[in-house]
Amino acid sequence: DEIRRHNDLYYREGAPVISDVEYDALDARLQELEAAFPDLGVDDSPTAEVGSDRDERFPSVPHSRKMLSLQNSYDLDEVTAFDQRLRRELEGGPAGDALGYTIEPKMDGVALAVRYVDGALTLGLTRGDGTHGDDVTANVRTITGIPHDLDRDWQKTLGGEHRGWEFRGEVFLTLSRFTSLNAEREADGLELLANPRNATAGTLKMLDSSEVGRRGLSVFFYQAFPFDPDDPRSPVSGQPFADHGAEMAALEALGLPVNDFLRQASEATEIKEHLSDLEGMRAALDYQIDGAVIKVASLGLQDRLGFTAKAPRWGLAFKFAAEEAVTLLKDITLQVGRTGVITPVAELEPV
Ligand code: IVH
Repeated sequence: DEIRRHNDLYYREGAPVISDVEYDALDARLQELEAAFPDLGVDDSPTAEVGSDRDERFPSVPHSRKMLSLQNSYDLDEVTAFDQRLRRELEGGPAGDALGYTIEPKMDGVALAVRYVDGALTLGLTRGDGTHGDDVTANVRTITGIPHDLDRDWQKTLGGEHRGWEFRGEVFLTLSRFTSLNAEREADGLELLANPRNATAGTLKMLDSSEVGRRGLSVFFYQAFPFDPDDPRSPVSGQPFADHGAEMAALEALGLPVNDFLRQASEATEIKEHLSDLEGMRAALDYQIDGAVIKVASLGLQDRLGFTAKAPRWGLAFKFAAEEAVTLLKDITLQVGRTGVITPVAELEPV
């Protein structure tokens, strides 16, 4: 119940009251308990479902493919364990691509799926409950990075075989945009936006699209796949790209915004070098990231690894140490300085 409450606060209200680290600790604890006491498990456990941003004010539309979550990790040992687990899993399977990885930023924004039919934008969906998303097309049309029509050459770029294409990515507010919006709000005597992620979630769910346009959302895409416009949920066979790098190159060639940090690695040590490079760049970025996403590069191997109920087996989110956490103010002591100045000092519960 506690995890469900935090899901609602984060996804529906856009007003979380605990940090991601604390949330992930609750989720990990419930997973441990469920593993230790399997007969106490429930089918609708939050460990088996992704949190939902469903909002009754928007039409609900089925996703072409489920929109899932990612396994989280906070510890470099878990990166090694992830690599070892995948090597074991793929061992003895059919000969195929060599196991390799990509590393990219994990954007701290809101997931979005957009569909194009014959090169024209037809739909924009939030994640919703992962199976159905909220139709926010009118708002999505106001986002500068999302073209209403793809470039003339789109078919050539995408292999020319499919009429329907879906692109998935993350919508966010740049820090500079967030700061100037809050400066305006302060001048107008309006309540300040709490943080860029919550402001993004709230903006995507506004009923006045012209205000959405004024807010100035940004987007980075990280996935592209074909769908059948007559039956979006039926699987389309054949993998149009060899690997995630080719997929990202296609998105970029279409003129869709992609993050410029995309690294390749063949094993765990190399992955960790890229993670540390990215963490070093973090403070200089004009947007918030909460970590990195490590993905199996080959899309053929991704297919073979498949999914658990909640997340792909081929991906891992590595979360950087939180920059902010909630804690208890235990006491305030008053220090008297040499000149008699009294300085209050907060005693915080370490987190
Ligand atoms: S790949 C099946 N790549 O993180 C999910 N996700 O925790 C594969 N996210 O729902 C997603 N940056 O909204 C992917 N570079 C990135 C991402 C990214 C942010 C979000 C996305 C996803 C959530 C999962």
